[in-house]
Amino acid sequence: MGKKRSGFTGGLGFVFATAGSAVGLGNLWRFPYLAAKYGGGIFLLCYIILAMTFGLALMITEIAIGRKTGKSAIEAYGALNKKWDFLGKISSVVPMIILPYYCVIGGWVIKYFFVFVTGQGHAAAGEGYFEGFISQATEPIVWLLIYIAFTAVVVMLGVEKGIEKFSKVLMPVLVVLSIGIAIYTVTLDGAGAGVKYYFMPDFSKFSVMTVLAALGQLFYSMSISMGILITYGSYMPKETSIEKSAHQIEIFDSGIAIIAGLMIVPSVFVFTGGDEAMLQKGAGLMFEMLPKIFDTIPLGNVIGVIFFLLVFFAALTSSISLMETVVSIIQDKFGLKRKTVCLIVVAGCILLALPSSLGYGIWDSVKIFGLSFLDFFDFVSNSVIMPIVAILTCIFVGYVIKPKTLIDEIAISKKFKSEKLYIVIIKYIAPFCILAILISSVLNSLGVIDI
Ligand code: PHE
Repeated sequence: MGKKRSGFTGGLGFVFATAGSAVGLGNLWRFPYLAAKYGGGIFLLCYIILAMTFGLALMITEIAIGRKTGKSAIEAYGALNKKWDFLGKISSVVPMIILPYYCVIGGWVIKYFFVFVTGQGHAAAGEGYFEGFISQATEPIVWLLIYIAFTAVVVMLGVEKGIEKFSKVLMPVLVVLSIGIAIYTVTLDGAGAGVKYYFMPDFSKFSVMTVLAALGQLFYSMSISMGILITYGSYMPKETSIEKSAHQIEIFDSGIAIIAGLMIVPSVFVFTGGDEAMLQKGAGLMFEMLPKIFDTIPLGNVIGVIFFLLVFFAALTSSISLMETVVSIIQDKFGLKRKTVCLIVVAGCILLALPSSLGYGIWDSVKIFGLSFLDFFDFVSNSVIMPIVAILTCIFVGYVIKPKTLIDEIAISKKFKSEKLYIVIIKYIAPFCILAILISSVLNSLGVIDI
């Protein structure tokens, strides 16, 4: 209350800041391995359809809720309707689950940066290098702790703005480099089959799990259903168009994910002939394939250094905003000092990150519902809690506060072009479809149905 919201300067300022926070490991690490795993083109098709419909509608909704209330998620829902305060609380759980395992992958990124800096790129391209790294007891944990330390220092010192400015400069470099690597990859011998796999939908590979995976990825990558966009919206100037900004953020975020997929998915065909086990690799795919690509380029080691440094910064801005969110939630709730809260969050983060890190190595026999710890946390947040938050948000907007409340907010700056479509999606299509996807995928996982 009474807190001054500084706001962003101009429409593009908002778009860049939000897109900068949204682009991270979700685009570079997670999207490519899901595309490889869930049938390539068919996953891409599901993703694009979902992004253009549900993704856009939910992004507009969250930004509008934030701008209307001027509050962050934990208070925004309650400010619109007291009984729905709980929704802010549920969505705030998501960053708490994601942050620890995000740092595990961040640690892997620093490790690979170090590998290239010390000129071991060729070794990293060899068979079994990634497995050798990940199956050790201590090394992945050391990198994890280093990554958490970077994130925590920035949050504790409150120098996020500086890092954001820096990463705003680096982001275009990352985009250009990724495009360059993607173009290079698709010209390699054998890439044709990979490009076809990635772009041509094979409907025989379609299952409800493909849709669920695409949906979860959409939430994760665009930071939807975790309260983050509400907070960003609360800083958005009234004269900036919500609809246009959401379009731009979405195109930027999806574009980078699609380019990252084009770097990595075809390379599976180039180097392993499209080996099914490699396509199904999951979390390690990027770390398996990129060194192999760089190894075929003259001065590939230098590209490796630059690339992993850029990925590190993209990841860091995301983990900073995740940690920042968790810290401010706890701080608001318990009224503790910021430094104390930071230390508690770091301790909690390490504690939860350890099983995720070990689960890919020495604890790989320990499974929860058949999943490693990291994949379990990933599944619970992206495929269970976020869809539930999304369904409840649609019900809240569609039937409790009514779409009109947000439409008025959206139309302040500019006519809301897709108003009718928005109402239909939020009230009728999205809640029922997401519920159907969620239920059928749970039944599918339990083996009750097979679709
Ligand atoms: N969307 C980010 C990514 O793609 C992850 C993230 C989630 C960032 C929440 C900030 C807040 O990596």
